[in-house]
Amino acid sequence: MLNKKKKKKEPYDRIRPILEYLTFADSYTKRIREILKNNNLWITNDNVSYGPHTLLKLAYLKYYFDIALEIAKNYFKNYVFIDTFAGSGLVSIKDTEYVSLGSSLLALIFKSRSGTSFSKIIGMEIDENKFSLLYRRLNLIKEELNLATDIKLIKGDINKKIDDIANEINQGDYGILFVDPEGIEISLGDLSKILSRSKSIDVILNQSEGVYRLLGKAQNGDSVSLKRLEQYLPTLSNVQDPEKARDILFNQFGKPIEATAEIRDVNNSPKYELVLRVRSTKSGAPWVKGMVEFANNITTKYNGKIVLNILDQIHGKGGRIDDFFKPS
Ligand SMILES: C[S@@+](CC[C@H](N)C(=O)[O-])C[C@H]1O[C@@H](n2cnc3c(N)ncnc32)[C@H](O)[C@@H]1O
Repeated sequence: MLNKKKKKKEPYDRIRPILEYLTFADSYTKRIREILKNNNLWITNDNVSYGPHTLLKLAYLKYYFDIALEIAKNYFKNYVFIDTFAGSGLVSIKDTEYVSLGSSLLALIFKSRSGTSFSKIIGMEIDENKFSLLYRRLNLIKEELNLATDIKLIKGDINKKIDDIANEINQGDYGILFVDPEGIEISLGDLSKILSRSKSIDVILNQSEGVYRLLGKAQNGDSVSLKRLEQYLPTLSNVQDPEKARDILFNQFGKPIEATAEIRDVNNSPKYELVLRVRSTKSGAPWVKGMVEFANNITTKYNGKIVLNILDQIHGKGGRIDDFFKPS
């Protein structure tokens, strides 16, 4: 008799297709690249670039899109992606010629395994140039792919325009709120304005390592660091113990703690943590198990260096490397 039990794929075999998709090496995203190139909206040299570890963040996001939309389709009619630090739609990978989908463009073109897509993308970006690129890229792709997705992009500072975002969300919407600053340029407490619009908003927060550095400095009496911490999350400023600070941060915006993923760069140094906070349901949140598994077996096992090696392989620059890069 045939053994029907599916063999679990190796981490390498799971991350590789995601990286192919993100870096325009699979058939669907190759088409997106051609459309952008043909309309002079491909990336140029003056775009800011981020290290290869950025792809681990985007892979985590994409993985959650699939889990979340597959469940949401049974309970909700509208699925909203809220990108508070939206960027330009594309991400240039530092010191390489590789380009990735940025979070908002990824959300726009994403289809879950049963074909579910976001009904609305709400994005905010402060930088004039990036905002203009984001606007043109997303609207071009929407038109060319004939997508029904509603796109609402707002130019400005998230800390001043949070109400504009909140007003775009309706009570019965299912939402994923992605908070992806470069450092700690947000007042976390204000996110409650967005979260109060619907009971069904999950949060993925990019929590900079810088928070812990500030905490250390503040504890040594540095008043500037203390002030910045207070702006980030007021309750943190009285906390002496870093572990306790981590609990406070995570309990407010990061439940359940198990799906947290540490992102490490090409030197294997921690850069930030991705914190997932999901809505509460009667059954708990069983779907988070899939995320915990992905975070533990993929996101935290890899780092920027390994990602770079896989990218080289995908884009024809290296041999098969999974044997010697098998995560321990
Ligand atoms: C890490 S990048 C975001 C990348 C994006 N999420 C992606 O995956 O493509 C952070 C972005 O936030 C923007 N930004 C910084 N401060 C901001 C603020 N106060 N309000 C809105 N956007 C801000 C920056 O210009 C930058 O494009």
